[in-house]
Amino acid sequence: MPRGYFITFEGLDGSGKTTQLRRLATTLEADGHTVVTLRQPGGTALGDRIRSVLLDSKSEAALGPIAPAAEMALMFADRAQSIAEVILPALDAGSIILCDRYTDSSEAYQGGGRQLGSERILAMHAAACDNLQPDLTILLLPSLESSLRRARRRNQRHVEQKGTDENRFERESDDFYRRIYEKYEEIAARESHRVAVIRDDASIDHIQTLIHELVSARIPAPATK
Ligand code: TMP
Repeated sequence: MPRGYFITFEGLDGSGKTTQLRRLATTLEADGHTVVTLRQPGGTALGDRIRSVLLDSKSEAALGPIAPAAEMALMFADRAQSIAEVILPALDAGSIILCDRYTDSSEAYQGGGRQLGSERILAMHAAACDNLQPDLTILLLPSLESSLRRARRRNQRHVEQKGTDENRFERESDDFYRRIYEKYEEIAARESHRVAVIRDDASIDHIQTLIHELVSARIPAPATK
């Protein structure tokens, strides 16, 4: 059984990566691939608990301010669990894994946004993830202005939607998002062999086509039954 293929999706809040991930999953399944999808934080029972602590805007009221290094360590606790429970078994089974965020998010948000720096994140990645890297990362990164606008719009939508409380990150300032954006640029330049950047602000359908072309050029055709 050939090893599977590990693809991650990255981008700022509101970048449309989750929609694109879902669409790619549907297309790849139609092409005959076995696809496993997950998101970080979350995707395991432990990860879902960690997600609600990290993203719920009520957490800080209940627990007090979450220190940036604690936030980083919780992201990696979640990631280590999903590697053990979902990613490695799916790779061993020959599946394509589509993961909504991975270590690049920690580097961009905690390393850049919270200013912990890349070195600490990469050291955590080595310790908690045994340096497991995606085969391909699709980074949705339209212009900074457009990214800030989308992040703000999504923030506003979440505030208006009662019952959706996952907005702790989205209350952050433009400067926070600017630092994340710059860190994503840095990662893309450093890891150009792995990271495919889509800067297009085009329609969802057009970006879907770009992503499908990118992925089908890299993965082998599924074994015929
Ligand atoms: P999302 O599921 O809508 O992408 O939201 C997850 C939020 O968590 C998003 O604001 C980015 C943040 N995050 C980090 O700060 N660090 C991480 O390592 C991950 C995976 C997510």
